[in-house]
Amino acid sequence: MSNLLSPNDEQGLSSGYHSPQVTVDVRLNTNESPYPPPRAFVHALATELAEVAFNRYPDRDARELRAALGRLHGVGPEQVFVANGSNEVLQTLLLTYGGPGRRAAVFEPTYALHSHLSRLTRTGVWVGDRQPDFHLDLGEVKRAAAEADPAITFVCSPNNPTGGAEPRAVVEEVLDLAPGLVVVDEAYGQFAPWSALELVGNDVGLVVVRTYSKTWSMAATRLGYLVGPAAVITELEHRVLPYHLDAVKQAAGRLALRFTTEMEARVAAVKDERSRVHDGLEKLAVETWPSDANFLLFRPTTRKGREVWAALVQRSVLVRDVGDWPRLSGCLRVTVGTPAENDAFLGALSEVLDR
Ligand SMILES: Cc1ncc(COP(=O)(O)O)c(C=O)c1O
Repeated sequence: MSNLLSPNDEQGLSSGYHSPQVTVDVRLNTNESPYPPPRAFVHALATELAEVAFNRYPDRDARELRAALGRLHGVGPEQVFVANGSNEVLQTLLLTYGGPGRRAAVFEPTYALHSHLSRLTRTGVWVGDRQPDFHLDLGEVKRAAAEADPAITFVCSPNNPTGGAEPRAVVEEVLDLAPGLVVVDEAYGQFAPWSALELVGNDVGLVVVRTYSKTWSMAATRLGYLVGPAAVITELEHRVLPYHLDAVKQAAGRLALRFTTEMEARVAAVKDERSRVHDGLEKLAVETWPSDANFLLFRPTTRKGREVWAALVQRSVLVRDVGDWPRLSGCLRVTVGTPAENDAFLGALSEVLDR
């Protein structure tokens, strides 16, 4: 019995990965879309749900959803893998290509789930550094190849939590240098100037991971996917649980794609606000960085990041304290919200920094 109560925690995994959820008026800590999906989408989904055969298992291969995503990206359904959030996509990649005796290369600071899921799947984690501006350092990618022969090389573009997207030439170089599969995590891809989807092919060791959580205003749905070589998709399909993607989610994901114009309008609105919040931050006592995503990284220069975080919570504004991530001591990350939320954030921050 005591074994049941004390799972093996050799790798320090028991704390998991969480962003603190605090009740506030302005929640800017988890990079969701500040806008709900279009009403017409919600109505179309409600109508479609009335037709779902709830007594039956869903389409195990999610054929219609994969075909619709394939049409969106100009590939066949056999090049699309779908799962419960892009986190499950990442986990399935590690279950397939990672595991004991294999390594994944990550370049810190970056999205913590890449290393967390690697450890969960008993994949070794090789940690490299980034350039001073937090962009990928190709010398480190080369070093990873020489020292670790990684089965998976993670490229987070735009990178969470630092915000920069890697240029096409850099991703092409990584494809040349990396000995195994290159995973480009584009959770924020629609906010960036280009997409590595352009480079995907059946004979290229590249997969591009995307999510409905951010730009599609569907974080509650938990739906993500990847586009890559058909042979990789076949392997991933062998690792997921039977019927892992429910019928409601499959319908929601398919119907959402009819609302691409509305989604693009939301992305454009967030990008406009991103510039405004960035300009606002530059007028305050903080260091900040350019962003190709829907969030901004900043470091208060006159007060400790942790104190600023707490003072913002007192003013009912929640941002993410990323001060304990590698190289980000004192840093905070703010999601771009609605104009009113952003005003509330900038107002509260300027008040907090004035003290
Ligand atoms: C870089 C990155 N990848 C993946 C995810 C996971 O997204 P999902 O909601 O699709 O699991 C996130 C979420 O914050 C993220 O920042």
